Amino acid sequence: MSKIRRVGVLTGGGDCPGLNAVIRAVVKSGIHNYGWEILGIKDGFEGLILLDHLLPLDPDRVRGILPRGGTILGATNRVNPFAYKINVDGKEELQDVSKRVLQRVDELMLDALVVIGGDGTMHLAHRFSQMGMPIVGIPKTIDNDNLGTDVTVGFDSALDIATQALDRLHTTAESHHRVMAVEVMGRNAGWIALCSGLAGGADVILIPEIPYQVDAICRKIRKRSELGRKFSILVASEGAVPQGGQQVYQSLSDPSAPKRLGGVCQRVSEEIHRCVKMEVRVTVLGHVQRGGSPSSFDRILGTRFGVEAMRLIAEGKLGRMVGLHRTAMGSVSLAEAQGQRRVDPQGELVQTARSLSISLGC
Ligand code: F6P
Repeated sequence: MSKIRRVGVLTGGGDCPGLNAVIRAVVKSGIHNYGWEILGIKDGFEGLILLDHLLPLDPDRVRGILPRGGTILGATNRVNPFAYKINVDGKEELQDVSKRVLQRVDELMLDALVVIGGDGTMHLAHRFSQMGMPIVGIPKTIDNDNLGTDVTVGFDSALDIATQALDRLHTTAESHHRVMAVEVMGRNAGWIALCSGLAGGADVILIPEIPYQVDAICRKIRKRSELGRKFSILVASEGAVPQGGQQVYQSLSDPSAPKRLGGVCQRVSEEIHRCVKMEVRVTVLGHVQRGGSPSSFDRILGTRFGVEAMRLIAEGKLGRMVGLHRTAMGSVSLAEAQGQRRVDPQGELVQTARSLSISLGC
């Protein structure tokens, strides 16, 4: 096993609560257990393309960051070194700068790189690993959809925020005899909607994995009314989709901007209003779910992941992603970590929701 001296760390993709807990654990265990030097790379993989994007890390630099949201390293979910946007004579071009990134890792004398990210970042990590970069991945995303782990850093905190929102909307829904519809994040996986719906006592839960029918939603709301329950709570993933239809995207004034999900709750609420003639109000939680202090669970999970990643590096087990498997720390190869972990429409969580007569929209 070659001697490790210096390890780099970066946070890729969208941020989430708990990233700083991971960075802190990487730094503290890297220095305390192994005597390594830790170099922070700013703004994800872009920090290995641009110069002046480095932040040497030591215990002083990470002191006090455990309860802080965001990431002290900065993050981006728009940079792909294999198709990097470059301005040539006023025109935007996509160039493959992956070799430059590989070379930069050599120049910086990084013996290993810890890459903290979601499925998109793990895809890049895998490609770089195949090119020979010494990488270990750590899964994070509020969407909870990294393959290769049962839970990701950030999910529990976002779930708490969504659940609190449902609790608050419950009381006002009841006072005004309204339907309250809440749109939560979750592009292709409905974990936040399903789990917050269960924790917050929703009557209808719409997730991307189970295409919905408006009739079924209206039936549920009408039935509640007939039983004297004059209000209903609906929670939908931003990526929820009607049967035979498409996901709903925001209309943006810049046509070149990447497509952004949003608006499914507004659409569903108008349809509900038309068929049940009740007042419906929509709340879109948006990036509130990604901000603020991490939950205790995310602080502990992030810390365990950080320590486990350093242990893998010490053992020479590169090209892997750490994960929580049931209650134990483990790891999978980056190849096995490719793709998204979605809600099983027949799984126990969905069956539990159905057993409580929660409507899944079909
Ligand atoms: O992947 C995490 C996520 O929060 C998604 O749920 C959401 O669609 C997306 O990021 C939003 O990203 P952005 O920060 O670009 O708006």
